[in-house]
Amino acid sequence: MPSGNDSRFAIAVLAAGKGTRLKSKLPKVVHQIGGRPLLGHVIVAAAKVVAPKHIFCIIGHEADLVRKTVEAYGTGFVEQHEQRGTGHALLQCREALAKYTHVLVLSGDVPLIRTETISAVRDFHIGHHADMTILTAQPPDPFGYGRIVRRTKDGHATDEVEAIVEQKQLKGDQLNIREINSGIYAFNVKELFARLDRLTTNNPHGEFYLTDIVSIFHKDGRKVLAVEAEESNEVLGINTRRELAILDDMLRTRKTSELMDSGVTIYRPETVVIDADVTVGADTILEPFVQLLGRTSIGSDCRVRSYSVVTDSRIGDKVTIKHGCILEDAEVGNSAILGPYSHLRPASQIGEGAHVGNFVETKKTRLGKGSKANHLTYLGDSDIGEGVNIGAGTITCNYDGVNKHVTVIEDGVFIGSDSTLVAPVKIGKGAYVAASSCITRDVPPDALGITRPELVIKENWATAKRAKMKAAKKP
Ligand code: UD1
Ligand code: CA
Repeated sequence: MPSGNDSRFAIAVLAAGKGTRLKSKLPKVVHQIGGRPLLGHVIVAAAKVVAPKHIFCIIGHEADLVRKTVEAYGTGFVEQHEQRGTGHALLQCREALAKYTHVLVLSGDVPLIRTETISAVRDFHIGHHADMTILTAQPPDPFGYGRIVRRTKDGHATDEVEAIVEQKQLKGDQLNIREINSGIYAFNVKELFARLDRLTTNNPHGEFYLTDIVSIFHKDGRKVLAVEAEESNEVLGINTRRELAILDDMLRTRKTSELMDSGVTIYRPETVVIDADVTVGADTILEPFVQLLGRTSIGSDCRVRSYSVVTDSRIGDKVTIKHGCILEDAEVGNSAILGPYSHLRPASQIGEGAHVGNFVETKKTRLGKGSKANHLTYLGDSDIGEGVNIGAGTITCNYDGVNKHVTVIEDGVFIGSDSTLVAPVKIGKGAYVAASSCITRDVPPDALGITRPELVIKENWATAKRAKMKAAKKP
């Protein structure tokens, strides 16, 4: 069998089209499902079959945006300046593919395709010495897809394909054909490019249909075979927003199923939204309506409670995220406890066993091991040591209207409630800040910082006040 890195094998991904039916200003293949662009899904699956440098994305409509969206995957690009059909798109790859023996053609708008299926098409194609192999399927509703006309022998359908007929061109009995063209093919490169020039625009859209190559191959006596996908969902294409939502749902279900199979408990998985690149450790529990997005990783034995949204964050083991927390680009150490309703903004670093409580917001802040900020607090641009207690209502005043400044709070500090720390400022190791203080200068280690006015007690003041008001009351 051919190896996964067979350099004679290339993959071309058709992604130059506009996607008119989405009615969008963005090109179709950059729309996302499962938290990843459509084209990204296809590339990720393809990149496990051949190295990215052997993958060529054919781009055209909004080419720069498409290129930028998937650049990081490291594939090659070929431009189709005018979108004149799928056959014309592949024709642009003549040079890029010259050194390869075979090419697999995938569609940028068929995103559920799995690596196993791509490899199966490749292996079938090589194993059967075909000139062209077509991946087909029998979805419940074949409407809109090109249909497969198989060659019959003694009244039975064979592996061989005579033609692909597009929906609009179906005639008579062809309307009953349930087997569809997935838009995924393998070709012998030499035989393909020897014939691509023979495509015409003689069809309702006036485009060069790649699908017409089948009858050309057939006429020349070349071997065109069909191989049916095990699961028809995998080759569903996206042309409309409704299909976008349906395939997004399928991907989310695939993701939660994989996680459950790997030891994650998910209650009411149909309510949970988890992006494709997210990882979750075993024995972690996800409650209903949790969202784990982007490049988030969650460790083992954690609990993420309902309505929390975690984006691009790294969460350790045994962490509890209570209800309604919002995390973005945050790092959370083992056994930390967050929430309910904590807001961790970018570059928040919460230490092992630390607590961040309700209505506490952090940004570009390190909260050391075992430190606590449990209530109603803003910590921005702060470096906070270990074993620190941040009282309710503490505010770091990090912004002077022009620049941001840093607050340093060393190990073991106690900040009394309702204090404001005007940065740049440093509270030394083991120091205290009295409740309701406004700290504008550094507090040395083990000192007390206090800005509280003297408390005045006026005995029986309230009694006298009430009597006075009663006497003054109008009848
Ligand atoms: C195509 C097939 C159809 C098949 C279906 C599967 C043709 C003529 N028809 O139809 O048999 O059942 O896919 O999903 O091929 N593209 C380009 N350049 C172009 C035109 C299209 O790169 O000039 C790209 C698109 O971006 C898209 C892919 O090719 O990713 C398929 O094009 P689309 O217009 O969606 O073809 P379908 O009508 O779905
Ligand atoms: Ca399509």
